[in-house]
Amino acid sequence: MAAAGDPKGRAGWSFRAWKSRWRRLWRSEAEPSKPLIQRVARQASLTFPGTRGSGDGEASGGFEENLSRLRSLLGQVRARDVGLAGRRASPRARARAPGRPPVSYMSICETPGFSLGVFLLRAGARVPLHDHPGMHGLLRVLYGTVRISCLDKLEPGPGAPPPPPGAPDGAAPRPGVLRSSAEFTEASAPCVLTPSRDNLHQIQAVRGPAAFLDVLAPPYDPTQGRECRYYQVLERLPLGGTEEAPEGSTRDLPRAVWLLETPKAEDFWGEEEPYPGPKVLP
Ligand SMILES: [Fe+2]
Repeated sequence: MAAAGDPKGRAGWSFRAWKSRWRRLWRSEAEPSKPLIQRVARQASLTFPGTRGSGDGEASGGFEENLSRLRSLLGQVRARDVGLAGRRASPRARARAPGRPPVSYMSICETPGFSLGVFLLRAGARVPLHDHPGMHGLLRVLYGTVRISCLDKLEPGPGAPPPPPGAPDGAAPRPGVLRSSAEFTEASAPCVLTPSRDNLHQIQAVRGPAAFLDVLAPPYDPTQGRECRYYQVLERLPLGGTEEAPEGSTRDLPRAVWLLETPKAEDFWGEEEPYPGPKVLP
């Protein structure tokens, strides 16, 4: 049995683990010489180590603290930090020529715990309503303006209203809640989703092209039950009131909706582009 103070004993290991963790935390926040996007990736790997299935990061110690640090770092990222300075003014970025995809993706890095990349949306492009099963997500706008609508599926309870009469034959709509709909710019704090809150969203570029940095943890993986599914909002229902607000209004949020799983929209497609920013090692 190891004596107290023996580096091979419990106290020795605890101290070493603490020292190692502190050093990693210190490095993630206190190394201003590292490119900001590298510090984001390192903090993401601390927050979402990806050692076991979905949501593993949440089970590890200090998850909320690490998530808060990641959110703070992400909130500092600008377009120039990922090599996109000047991109917003590029005629190429504004153009939506026939045959060009509405959305592009630049992968920065990916581990079993998270993926980090940039989505580029051309003017008016829309990422349709979709879910992130068992995942966290953090979204930071780099340029332009996006409208993000956040929803959740609800478990059908005994008091649930009957399915809407307009549902297609054979469809199985399920109740949901539209929690928020708001515009985000580079002046906004990151938008955060969790496995249980704001897990579905739709993202639309408004008034021109837009780009956002995206952290997904763990990454989508159909073999692990994390397949991206798309939805359509069938019908709006008043939640806690009978007065309908005008279309597009946020006065009546949150509000109940019916959600119907749909195939991916035909006008939503994309391509990968090379990432032009600093090299990142998570
Ligand atoms: Fe998403």
